[in-house]
Amino acid sequence: MTPRVAVSRRDLPGPGPRLLADRFDLEVWQDDAPPTAGQLADLVSDCDAALVLGTDKVDTALLDAGSRLRVVALASMGYDAVDVPAATGRGVLVTHTPDVLAETTADLALALILMARRRLGAAVDTLRGGGWSTFRMNGFLGLDVHGATLGLVGYGQIGQALGRRAAGLGMRVQHYTRTPRDGHGGSRAVEFDELLRTSDVISLHVPLTPQTRGLIGPAELALMKPTATLVNTSRGGVVDEAALLAALRTGALHSAGLDVMVDEPRADPADPLFHEPHLVVLPHVGSATEATRAAMVDLAARNILAVLDGRDALTPLPGTPAR
Ligand code: DGY
Repeated sequence: MTPRVAVSRRDLPGPGPRLLADRFDLEVWQDDAPPTAGQLADLVSDCDAALVLGTDKVDTALLDAGSRLRVVALASMGYDAVDVPAATGRGVLVTHTPDVLAETTADLALALILMARRRLGAAVDTLRGGGWSTFRMNGFLGLDVHGATLGLVGYGQIGQALGRRAAGLGMRVQHYTRTPRDGHGGSRAVEFDELLRTSDVISLHVPLTPQTRGLIGPAELALMKPTATLVNTSRGGVVDEAALLAALRTGALHSAGLDVMVDEPRADPADPLFHEPHLVVLPHVGSATEATRAAMVDLAARNILAVLDGRDALTPLPGTPAR
C-alpha cells in the first residue's frame, strides 16, 4: 500500500511538496486558515508521516490520533511545540530543519540590530506620517553599531553566523553558552552576568525550554547598560515582555528589536508592543526568504522520504534517534 503523508499547509514553497507527491498519497490541509488541533489530528489519523510547521502542536493528542505515524517532519528549526518524550515513547521520529536557515536568520538579527539602534522604525513612521519638516542636527539620533560590543546568548549556528557579520562591522563579539565553548573568529566566551553588563547589543539565540523561558526578566534587564539594545530572533517566551516594555519606558534600556513574541500571531493594532518608540517588532520573519523557506520544506520532505524508505532521518531532533 502506498504510504500516506499529511501536510498541514497547502501553500508550501519549493520542490518539497512535489517530492512527496511523486512517491506518496498526500492529505493536504486545504483551508487558508491553519488547522485547529482537532483538524490536524483528523488529518494525520490515517497517515504514516506528517509534514507540519513549527507552530503546529505535536502533543500526545496528536500522536494518539496518528497511531500509524512513523515520522513527523517539522519545517522549522525550533521544536518547542513538540512533546519530544511522548513522540520518542511512541516510536515516532521527529525531524527539524537546522543548518538551512541559520544565515538568513542571522541576516534578520543584524537588520534588527541596525533598525533598533539607529531608530529606523521610528524614522520611517515619521516620514509616513508627514512629520519630516526639516533637517535637524539632533533629529533621529541613534547609537553606533560599529565599534559596539555584541553579546550573543547562545552560540549555535545562528549566533555564530551573526558573530561573523558583526565582526565585519567592526563590532567586538562575546558569547555565553551553558557549556562554555571557544569562539570562532575572535568571539570571547564570558559568563552570563558579565555578558549582560558589558554588551552594547545583546542578541538571543537559545531554544525555548523550561530553562530559558523568561531568561530575560527584570533582574537581567537591570544588569544591562541603559545604552544597550536587546534583540530576540529566537522565541518570544525567552523574554518577559512586560519587563522589557517597562525597561524601555523608564529609559533603563535604550532599544529593542523583536522578531518573536510570547503570543503569536498578534493582530491587535493597539498592541502596546507595536507602539513603543524604541522597540522594533517584526512578525516572525527570521527565515522568510524564498530560498530559505523552500529549503526548509525541502529538508522536511527529504526527512520523510528517508524514514519511509527505511533510511536514517537526515536531521532528527537533537538527542533523538535517527531511525
Ligand atoms: C524556526 O525555524 O524555528 C523559525 O522560527 C520558523 O518557525
